[in-house]
Amino acid sequence: MIKPDAVENGYIGAILDKITAAGFKIVAMKYTQLSKRDAELFYAIHKDRPFFGELVEFMTRGPIVAAILEKDNAVDDFRALIGATNPEEAAEGTIRKLYAASIGENAIHGSDSDENAAIEGAFHFSGREVY
Ligand code: RTP
Ligand code: MG
Repeated sequence: MIKPDAVENGYIGAILDKITAAGFKIVAMKYTQLSKRDAELFYAIHKDRPFFGELVEFMTRGPIVAAILEKDNAVDDFRALIGATNPEEAAEGTIRKLYAASIGENAIHGSDSDENAAIEGAFHFSGREVY
């Protein structure tokens, strides 16, 4: 997902350019807005963390771009491309270093395992929307 901060700041095109230039194939994509319930479900793993309320508020405040990406070694390579959760700790040239402002508002989400990528893809897309 390209998160609401990056959408608000006009970075959709630049971020998609970096993703495709890095060799990822977009197999599904949509522009949409998460409801409170959507965000609570999507980030349910963090429900007991102190930042959960803030995270749900942030993720629902405007539209996002959701996508399913394909590549060999996609999870690790995508997390390398987006950089550390905290943009201050993200490597030079990474998406979060370039386009994120803070640990909470960090421009982009990447799945953390193949298993979660499948769950998260099914959260956003029906089978007919995947090419
Ligand atoms: P994501 O799931 O969004 O790709 O991010 P991540 O794996 O790098 O980080 P994760 O630990 O899963 O945290 C999920 C999102 O919660 C927000 N967060 N805020 N205020 C804070 O201390 C804090 N910590 C995490 C961020 O939006 C983070 O991406
Ligand atoms: Mg995560």
